[in-house]
Amino acid sequence: MSEELTLTKTEGAAPQTGAPLLEVKGLKKHFPIKGGFPIRRTVGHVQAVDGVDLTVHEGESFGLVGESGCGKSTTGRLLTRLLDSTAGEIRYQGTDIANYSRRQMAPIRSEIQMIFQDPQSSLNPRHTVGTIIGGPMEVNGINPPGGREKRVRELLETVGLNPEHYQRFPHEFSGGQRQRIGVARALALEPKLIVADEPVSALDVSIQAQVVNLLQKVQREMGIAFLFIAHDLAVVRHFSQRVAVMYLGKIVEVGDRESIYNRPRHPYTHALLSAVPEARLDEDEEEQRERIRLAGDVPSPIDPPSGCRFRTRCWKAQDKCATDEPPLVQISGNHDGHLTACHFPEEPTILAHGEDVVMTGGGARRRTDELVTPEEEREMVEERAETETPKKMP
Ligand SMILES: Nc1ncnc2c1ncn2[C@@H]1O[C@H](COP(=O)(O)OP(=O)(O)O)[C@@H](O)[C@H]1O
Ligand code: SF4
Ligand SMILES: [Mg+2]
Repeated sequence: MSEELTLTKTEGAAPQTGAPLLEVKGLKKHFPIKGGFPIRRTVGHVQAVDGVDLTVHEGESFGLVGESGCGKSTTGRLLTRLLDSTAGEIRYQGTDIANYSRRQMAPIRSEIQMIFQDPQSSLNPRHTVGTIIGGPMEVNGINPPGGREKRVRELLETVGLNPEHYQRFPHEFSGGQRQRIGVARALALEPKLIVADEPVSALDVSIQAQVVNLLQKVQREMGIAFLFIAHDLAVVRHFSQRVAVMYLGKIVEVGDRESIYNRPRHPYTHALLSAVPEARLDEDEEEQRERIRLAGDVPSPIDPPSGCRFRTRCWKAQDKCATDEPPLVQISGNHDGHLTACHFPEEPTILAHGEDVVMTGGGARRRTDELVTPEEEREMVEERAETETPKKMP
């Protein structure tokens, strides 16, 4: 995050009070691993998402944080129904849409939009900005007053771009501007929920804050709920009213911002906070906070550790951690709604315990590379949009 560019303070942001918009229970995605020749049999599963529960309220900004490979993008793709889940419920406004067919999804799809990590490849290079932003309106049969072109110009203005540039192509814009186009495209259908998958991590540090500020403005002024995915706690801190920390396919801690940043209980949340200077509270506390270096890699989601999945990197692990999976519950000392999955939680403080803690261990991680490329992701979106075009009445 740039030092010159300050993020808009969210301290005065209205607390989340809206009704539940999205309620996720026991969500799982296990990708089959095929092996053998000539018959390709399933030889195992990547447990990318393995029993996630979360709730996003109307108009709320909810952060989802964890190291690369822990299942954040897969969760985002499941919630937007770009991917089909293996198990679990996805209740949208009270109705379980997890197993909805493409046709059943058609009326809902416009309400749940996604902003992707890589603005370069998530915009079709052969389409003008006008087509990229206006296309979804056409597909969904939306005719705004004054016409689509007028609406596209308004949206360009909303995201801080020149409305006269609607006939330009993506390559004529900078990375930050392209992500603004991505935001305008997501806004075109007046969504209730936007899943933003690391929307600034591919951008220059100097412009990350500008885009986060834009998203924050959109979230507040238009009352759109956000699931904001990030790999560290710094960006989300300025954006989210509530935050969930994910590790190896599971949520290990969730709570309001104050609880997660000032009173974290899960050792992994402590480690993440200590690794990110910007996430710290202020200079004095920074000095006092323990510094935890996470040693070792995230274990493979193909064969995750038994019991608590964090145990191979946890400095507090005991025998029980290998046999009993800790449930995600409100442990004693937590504020309301602050849930932690740990048998031996940290004290509710961010202050130092003394010297540095170096985490050891860590099974070999087999980080299967990004299996869905950004280009494939765009194709997934475009393909779904085409097959789900609501049939216009003759
Ligand atoms: N299409 C796929 N097929 C098989 N494995 C996948 C697929 N997509 C993601 N994975 C695996 O699932 C795990 C979680 O990936 P992902 O959701 O992209 O994590 P994150 O976004 O947190 O970095 C990783 O181990 C990844 O390799
Ligand atoms: S349950 Fe055990 S291994 Fe897991 S985080 Fe807590 S202390 Fe560490
Ligand atoms: Mg990802």
